[in-house]
Amino acid sequence: MKLKSLMFAAALTAPLAQAESITYSKQIQPLWQARCATCHGNTSVYWGQWQQNKDAYKKQNKGPRMDSYAELLHFIGWPQTGSLMRQLDDGQSNGKGKPGGMYQHLGNDEAERQANLQLFKAWVGEDAWSGKHWQPKKDQPAISKQELDRLKLAY
Ligand code: HEC
Repeated sequence: MKLKSLMFAAALTAPLAQAESITYSKQIQPLWQARCATCHGNTSVYWGQWQQNKDAYKKQNKGPRMDSYAELLHFIGWPQTGSLMRQLDDGQSNGKGKPGGMYQHLGNDEAERQANLQLFKAWVGEDAWSGKHWQPKKDQPAISKQELDRLKLAY
């Protein structure tokens, strides 16, 4: 774990060129395995089923299953547009000033959480980290085609 945090911390200060080559298979999958798998892995049910019985799953501290590239994209692109970004944000980009519910799981201390947030952001695309929904919400417009085009999400 120590070594991993160091590696993730190193990625934070790495030059932009390196940040741009963040992929699911190299950085995100292992990070997801370490920090998210216990509650979103193969002992959880997929989103549709989870949604139908949300409160019961939440009581067991189980989130929807997202243990593959395609399943994770479900919470970024569609139908749960922007969900991952809203949940992982530290409060700086979500317009709320307070972190999303999953930010706490990104690391054991603030430095590790920030380093891992940067990894997720670099993978999703810094310019695509808006957390907007598919449909307009209150005073927030819906995500646009231009914004969707900025998603990186390399496998
Ligand atoms: C200790 C258990 C736990 C861990 C660890 C955890 N989650 Fe969650 N997650 C949950 C639960 C429970 C919910 C449902 C929360 C709610 O709706 O109030 C959830 C919800 C989510 C959602 C929203 C799903 C939706 O319906 O749109 C996303 C996205 C998410 N988690 C991503 C992550 C990521 C990425 C990580 C790792 C950095 C992570 N979670 C770590 C338990 C966890």
